[in-house]
Amino acid sequence: MTQSLMAEIRAHAPAYVKNARLIDWVSRMAALTGAKAIHWCDGSDDEYDRLCQQLVDAGTFKRLNPVKRPNSFLACSDPSDVARVEDRTFICSQDKQDAGPTNNWMDPAEMRVLLQTGENALFKGAMKGRTLYVIPFSMGPLGSPISHIGVELSDSPYVVVNMKRMTRMGRAVVDHLGTDGDFVPCMHTVGAPLEEGQRDVAWPCNAAVKYIVHYPETQEIWSYGSGYGGNALLGKKCLALRIASTMGRDQGWLAEHMLILGVTTPAGRKYHVAAAFPSACGKTNFAMLIPPASLGDWQVTTIGDDIAWIKPGPDGRLYAINPEAGYFGVAPGTNFETNPNCMRSLERDVIFTNVALTDDGDVWWEGMGPAPQHAIDWQGKDWTPALAKESGAKAAHPNARFTVSATNNPALDPAWDDAAGVPIDAFIFGGRRSTTVPLVTEARNWMEGIYMGATLGSETTAAAFGQQGVVRRDPFAMLPFCGYNMGDYFQHWLDMEHRLQEHASSLPKIFCVNWFRKGPDGKFIWPGYGDNARVLKWMIERLEGTAEGEGHFFGISPRYEDLDWNGLDFSREQFACIIDADATSWKAELKLHDALFDLLAPRLPSVLKATRQAIEATLMG
Ligand code: OXD
Ligand code: MN
Repeated sequence: MTQSLMAEIRAHAPAYVKNARLIDWVSRMAALTGAKAIHWCDGSDDEYDRLCQQLVDAGTFKRLNPVKRPNSFLACSDPSDVARVEDRTFICSQDKQDAGPTNNWMDPAEMRVLLQTGENALFKGAMKGRTLYVIPFSMGPLGSPISHIGVELSDSPYVVVNMKRMTRMGRAVVDHLGTDGDFVPCMHTVGAPLEEGQRDVAWPCNAAVKYIVHYPETQEIWSYGSGYGGNALLGKKCLALRIASTMGRDQGWLAEHMLILGVTTPAGRKYHVAAAFPSACGKTNFAMLIPPASLGDWQVTTIGDDIAWIKPGPDGRLYAINPEAGYFGVAPGTNFETNPNCMRSLERDVIFTNVALTDDGDVWWEGMGPAPQHAIDWQGKDWTPALAKESGAKAAHPNARFTVSATNNPALDPAWDDAAGVPIDAFIFGGRRSTTVPLVTEARNWMEGIYMGATLGSETTAAAFGQQGVVRRDPFAMLPFCGYNMGDYFQHWLDMEHRLQEHASSLPKIFCVNWFRKGPDGKFIWPGYGDNARVLKWMIERLEGTAEGEGHFFGISPRYEDLDWNGLDFSREQFACIIDADATSWKAELKLHDALFDLLAPRLPSVLKATRQAIEATLMG
């Protein structure tokens, strides 16, 4: 880059930007990508409003009916760009073994040639005709020692407005960086340069080429070709999980795909639970659940719905923060019954993506409530219930999303923004399994709990591109998000026990749940949603030592009489169908555990194999 271009870019940085590394990096990236302008985001409401209007003018956004859905917008993506692209996601560690067999890997030097330095490097000229937005953001409360700062450079104004809702974004972050503060550089382009005079499309992206790349050693993120969700909002999966998991490995903490909720008992005692579920398995619903009044005065409050950063505190307990400031949740299936708090969160100031537009300018999705007579579906086509019946066409894409600030949530926990985090009393691991896995099981010790997390399996959903409904192992719900070797990651969790050993009594209890068992009619047996509070209640009572359970080869599960059935008509027979762990299916399940363990063999902690053998021995009984 020429000195004069550098000087020009420096001249355009607002006076408050004092960080030389940031200015230098922005200058180099502007030169590499050929962006036509640079916009330093200040994060103000005014900037948000202007960019939303710009997106409306460009045809990316439709402004929704301001009476029904004030200050809310709908974006519909290109049909090739609707979910995270796991097969295009790379962990480029120096040593392939450090990425491990569950991640795509490429040599970092080779990847840099492909993306940055080669003659036809993808980022070269990638932002031609577009504005480069500088998006400074903090994951976690700004200024907290737990937080990390990132700066995303993106040519997508859609990304800017989503980052405003999802993170603490803007000038305050740059002020905090000062002259020499550190940040994770997050480079993003939709990969659709505009030639002179070329008209833009409503959802620019690169339908053919996508790369979501992480360099763990240098802590950099490079994302090319997609404008959607976790591929493009780089603070979320890329920084807060993949890169942060490697920070956690090196520094002795955990970055997890977990919701965090507070639960207050009728006696006023407060507990905190962190729960890992794979994508689109109800984390947002669980984090916002309203316990049935028939259970008494139990209250659930939300700290986070997707990601937890968890660190040992000086008292030997684990403390968790939610690094995000908003929710990017799955819309289909959300309604006033499944998640009333969420529906209330969506009343205003929302960005919807890939849901349907109703004739009165509002939104609709499958499972929201009665279908409208007519709507425009997420692909801009006419949609009616009759057409849907005929062709199965969905009005909303199954991975349609809402983006909304956490502060919209009526059940937001007062400590959600507390830099010190909340002490974790229990971990929950859950998957979507129509068979085999019981409603709830308590691990008898840390090791048994780690085994539950490590062998978690789930039927795949629309959150990621690819076939749906297939059972895959998703250890700790981190399969797509762990930035290093999964075997090392298991060891890291195991080591936590020793790290906290002095305070062994305050180690969180670990549970494994499955809300998704189906009957022979193919229907879910367990009502789920608010009634999951019955399971939560049993867990809290186990923590308090007041509830019973029955031991089996896998842990301890409640008997029928151990759960509170007040207000729910659920028979002993129904319960038997969802709590049983029968030996035949478990022998088959152990074979699936073996397949995972074989894959991870070179770095698999041997205690996991030993635990597997012990389970089998008990099963053979
Ligand atoms: C998400 C996901 O968007 O897990 O949270 O896919
Ligand atoms: Mn998620």
